[in-house]
Amino acid sequence: MRQDQSSELKGQKPKTADSLRSLNEEIRSCSRCPLATGRTKAVPGEGPVRAEILLVGEAPGRDEDLAGRPFVGRAGSILDCCLNDAGIDRSEVFITNVVKCRPPENRRPKKDEVEACRPYLESQLELIQPKVVVLMGNAATRAVLDVEGVTSLRGQVFGDLFLVTFHPAAVLRNGNLREAFVSDLLAARDRAERLTLQQS
Ligand code: URA
Repeated sequence: MRQDQSSELKGQKPKTADSLRSLNEEIRSCSRCPLATGRTKAVPGEGPVRAEILLVGEAPGRDEDLAGRPFVGRAGSILDCCLNDAGIDRSEVFITNVVKCRPPENRRPKKDEVEACRPYLESQLELIQPKVVVLMGNAATRAVLDVEGVTSLRGQVFGDLFLVTFHPAAVLRNGNLREAFVSDLLAARDRAERLTLQQS
């Protein structure tokens, strides 16, 4: 899953890593929307700057708000297990959310909150340039593709980049979704590997 190292040798990746660090700092001190006032910690996301797969969830929950890290609670545990089942190590993917601060009582992020946070996700995509972006759940799918209905859209790739699947919390609630979720993660991995091979 490792990309060609030539750009790293030319010094481009360290520069990108610096930009990503600055972006994280900006997110941590963000006050663009009212969610900033209720947060303990903003959750920019985490993963390698050269990640080939980038996963997008909805918003930090209580555990993530306390830790400042994405998917560290129960939804995170099932995500880790399913990534493992798909032969993906969590440390090799970049994980983030549509909004970077916890909404009160874990309610759905509002439209203006999603809009306020959108530039951060756009910058992350621009800097990391993943080969596959996995949109987990309706909030991520709606925010990025402006379409609804994960149940019928799952497994499909849009714009050669975005793969839609279930949110890990949905898999937690309904174990029957697990097989499809793992198969979508596997598809993301295969696609990323194929694209890397084509480019080398
Ligand atoms: N649910 C999300 O959508 N994101 C997290 O980081 C944790 C739970």
